[in-house]
Amino acid sequence: MPRPSPRIVAAFAFALILADGRPRAEAQGVAAPPAAKAQRKARRDAPGTYMGRPIAGVMSYEGADWLFRDTREAEEQPERMLDALKIQAGQTVADIGAGAGYTSLRLSRRVGPKGTVLATDVQPQMLAMLRDNAKVAGVTNIKPIRATQAATNLPDGQVDLALMVDVYHEAADPETLLRGILKALKPGGRLVLVEFRGEDPDVPIKPEHKMTLAQVRKELEPQGFRFRESFEFLPWQHIIVFEKPAAEAEKK
Ligand SMILES: C[S@@+](CC[C@H](N)C(=O)[O-])C[C@H]1O[C@@H](n2cnc3c(N)ncnc32)[C@H](O)[C@@H]1O
Repeated sequence: MPRPSPRIVAAFAFALILADGRPRAEAQGVAAPPAAKAQRKARRDAPGTYMGRPIAGVMSYEGADWLFRDTREAEEQPERMLDALKIQAGQTVADIGAGAGYTSLRLSRRVGPKGTVLATDVQPQMLAMLRDNAKVAGVTNIKPIRATQAATNLPDGQVDLALMVDVYHEAADPETLLRGILKALKPGGRLVLVEFRGEDPDVPIKPEHKMTLAQVRKELEPQGFRFRESFEFLPWQHIIVFEKPAAEAEKK
């Protein structure tokens, strides 16, 4: 795959890197997404938290180079991760929080010319980089979609697999995001979260950018997702697989 070149000024980006290597959007004057007031009131979560977990800040587009760092393949083994998901040619896959397209480009090859990758992100600058990277790679089956914290902007009932790689922990309004994903999935469609292991203190990522399997299940199952399995062969990350039960589709 041609090495994508996000339009980043390296020195500026480096100045923004936090202890775990990520820049934060709010540190750049990119407004943090508004909290979901109604939901917070109903759930009585402390501001900036959800079900007892601090919500991480959105990773700024200014640090997109970090998403294409040389060590990422060894650390995250993206092809092995995708192998485990057994994606079929012709499927519609949503890469939610796609960033500059690190995973979307791989998904594009897996679904093939008859399949589609719906690549969403809340930062238009990330989507601009993703478009550039798709162009360089010569792929035409990736459709960039501008999401907001209030709407996935995915089509209803058309998605076979929704994938979030290193994204869910920074969703400002998890319940709204999960409701949107459930609506977008086909009956029996899967939602997969790839998250750095919160159980492991040796994973060199800040705690709010990690998740435990127990916390993920605690948050997703009440929203209508059925836990299927988790794969634990990656060096640092969980691969957590849920599905939309068929009954959920019948209600719609
Ligand atoms: C750490 S980056 C990961 C990017 C990409 N998944 C990857 O692995 O290279 C997280 C991305 O999620 C996006 N994001 C955060 N909340 C989102 C939401 N509710 N919907 C869509 N994208 C979101 C951010 O803008 C950012 O680009």
